Amino acid sequence: MPGFLEQIEPLKQAALNELRAAPDLAALEQAQVGYVGSHGKFTALMKQLGSLSKDEKPAAGKAVNSAKNELEAALAERRAELELKAALPKEATDFTLPGRRRALGKLHPLTQVTEDIVRSFRKIGFVVADGPEVEDEYHCFDALNTPADHPARDTQDTFYLAAPSAAGSASSERGLLLLRTHTSSVQIRVMEKQQPPVRIIVPGRVYRRDNADATHNPTFHQVEGLYVDRNVTVGDLKGTVEFVFKELMGSETRIRFRPHYFSYTEPSFEIDFSSPLTRKMGKEWLEIAGCGMVHPQVFETVGYDTEVWSGWAFGFGIERIAMIRYGINDIRLFYENDLRFLRQF
Ligand code: DAH
Repeated sequence: MPGFLEQIEPLKQAALNELRAAPDLAALEQAQVGYVGSHGKFTALMKQLGSLSKDEKPAAGKAVNSAKNELEAALAERRAELELKAALPKEATDFTLPGRRRALGKLHPLTQVTEDIVRSFRKIGFVVADGPEVEDEYHCFDALNTPADHPARDTQDTFYLAAPSAAGSASSERGLLLLRTHTSSVQIRVMEKQQPPVRIIVPGRVYRRDNADATHNPTFHQVEGLYVDRNVTVGDLKGTVEFVFKELMGSETRIRFRPHYFSYTEPSFEIDFSSPLTRKMGKEWLEIAGCGMVHPQVFETVGYDTEVWSGWAFGFGIERIAMIRYGINDIRLFYENDLRFLRQF
C-alpha cells in the first residue's frame, strides 16, 4: 500500500482527467460525486488523515487540501464551460431571417371617433378644454341656469357623492358634489377663467343613473362646444355643425335644426342629421345633438358683458356617433372589451 502522500497526486490527476473530459453537465455531476462527494474517492483519502502520526499530519494535510482546492477550481471551470455550451442553440442560427414583429395594438373605437371629432374642430380654430368629472352642483346646474326643481338634478338621474363621514352627501362651498351628468359644466369653468373670445371643445366622460341597455350606459362620453365672440349668430352655429358632421359622417350629410328647450341656451335647438348611414338604419333623420345661443343669464353668472358678447354652445354623445358610423346596435359592446369586437376597428 503506497504512503498517504504518494496517493494524492495520482488520484488528483485521475479526477482532473475525468472531469475535464466530461461531455455534459450530467457527466460532470457524476465525476464530482465520484471524487469529492461524501462517498467519493478523494473524500475517502481525506478521511485517512486522522490515522496519520502527529509528525506526518501537517504536511499531509497541506498537500491534500491544496489538491482539493485544485479539484474544486477545475470543477467550477468545467461547469461554466458546459453551462455555456448547454445554453447555445443546437442548430446553426440564420441571422438573415426576418425579425419577429410584435403585434401592434389599436386605439379603442371611441378614442378613434373622439380623435376624428377633435381633428375636425381643430381645422376651424377650436382648442380642447378639460374639466373635472367630480363636479359640484353649481357648475353642473346652477351656473347653467338649471333651476333647483329641474328633474335632471333628481337623485334618479345624478350620482351624488356620499360624504366621507357617510352622514349624507358630500358638499363644497358650491353645493353638493356629484359625478357630472354632462360636459356643459366645463363651459362655466372655462368662462370663469378667461375673457372672450372663447372657442373650445370638451370631449369627456359623463355619468347618469341609467340602467344599462342597448342604448344606455351609466357612463358615456360627450363633446361640448362653446364659441363666444362679438356678433356670433345661429348661422355660424349651423355652418360649424354642418362642416363637422360632413367630415364625420360623409359629404352627403345634411343637418336640420328643430326648436327645443335647454336652460342654458335661448333659442335652443335639437340637431337632426340625414345621410346614407341614417337611411341604412331605416330612418331619414336621426337626432344627434343639442345646441343654442348661450343664455344671457349664463353670461351674467360668469361676468361676461351681454351687450358686447354673444355665443353658442352644443353638446352631443360620442357613442351615438360611433354607433351610427359603424352600424353598432348595442352601446354595451364599447365597454365589454371583447377582442372580437375591438379588432374590427
Ligand atoms: N348638455 C346637454 C345634454 O347633456 C347637451 C347640450 C345641449 C349641450 C345644448 C349644450 C347645448 O351646450 O347648448 O344633453
